[in-house]
Amino acid sequence: MTIRLSEREFEKFRKLIHDVTGIHMKNEKTTLIESRLAKRLRHFEMSSYSQYYDHLQTDALELQVFINTITTNETSFFREPHHFEFLKNDILSKRNSMVRIWSAAGSIGAEAYSAAMVCDEVLESKRIGWEILCSDINVDVINQAQSGLYPNKFIPQITERYLKRHCLKGFGQQEGLFIVDDHLRAHLSFRRLNLMEPAPSDIGEFDVIFLRNMLIYFNTPERKYIVENVVTRLKKGGYLLIGHSESLFNVTSCVKQVSPTIYIKL
Ligand SMILES: C[S@@+](CC[C@H](N)C(=O)[O-])C[C@H]1O[C@@H](n2cnc3c(N)ncnc32)[C@H](O)[C@@H]1O
Repeated sequence: MTIRLSEREFEKFRKLIHDVTGIHMKNEKTTLIESRLAKRLRHFEMSSYSQYYDHLQTDALELQVFINTITTNETSFFREPHHFEFLKNDILSKRNSMVRIWSAAGSIGAEAYSAAMVCDEVLESKRIGWEILCSDINVDVINQAQSGLYPNKFIPQITERYLKRHCLKGFGQQEGLFIVDDHLRAHLSFRRLNLMEPAPSDIGEFDVIFLRNMLIYFNTPERKYIVENVVTRLKKGGYLLIGHSESLFNVTSCVKQVSPTIYIKL
């Protein structure tokens, strides 16, 4: 029997999602929430969404599973390729000192590893150090990012040259998967960070911050908070990159636009 999510229950979950992640769930997301949470109801053998909602009030571990379940983590390697061209030609090629990059809301790490392949290409021969932090609110995706293991369906997104240099084909239990090699992974670190909470100072400051395809899930006050929050960790003269369908117009003027999705901190 299918259990239905009532309008009242949806409202309660919508508020909870907003309180813990800042994400604004639009009305049309009712079916999506219903189907994603149905798995959790089955897991606990619960007969209503209200029961699951009540359970979340007292189980902090399940609250993280809930966050993992409701976030949308769609991503790909070299998504919006012009950012990686900009990274290569306008940032890295001109550098002569250590580079630090933050893939904030980096999902399964495809964005961070794409940036890593470009860093390796440009900086290794110049013997310039580099490091990348990949963070997300969703623990499952951060664990996958840390493992560096990806299904082969991602292979066509990566050029032959980078594949040869950095990716190893999985065998046996890892059949159908590839793994990013240790040499590249050694430059990356991974962390669960909620961008609706003040960015911790121990992550240091960055030359480039990728904050792509996550602002779309938020309303203007939360977008403003998130952008200004991550920008506290951006060096002066550093770049902030956002998704192609996102804009900071009427959101914040803490960074200056240099092209439609590229901003600089003055
Ligand atoms: C659609 S993915 C974008 C991934 C990658 N940046 C890209 O452009 O391909 C959005 C990511 O934002 C994360 N996210 C949502 N709310 C967040 C929050 N409050 N703090 C940190 N990450 C969050 C989600 O878990 C998800 O992995």
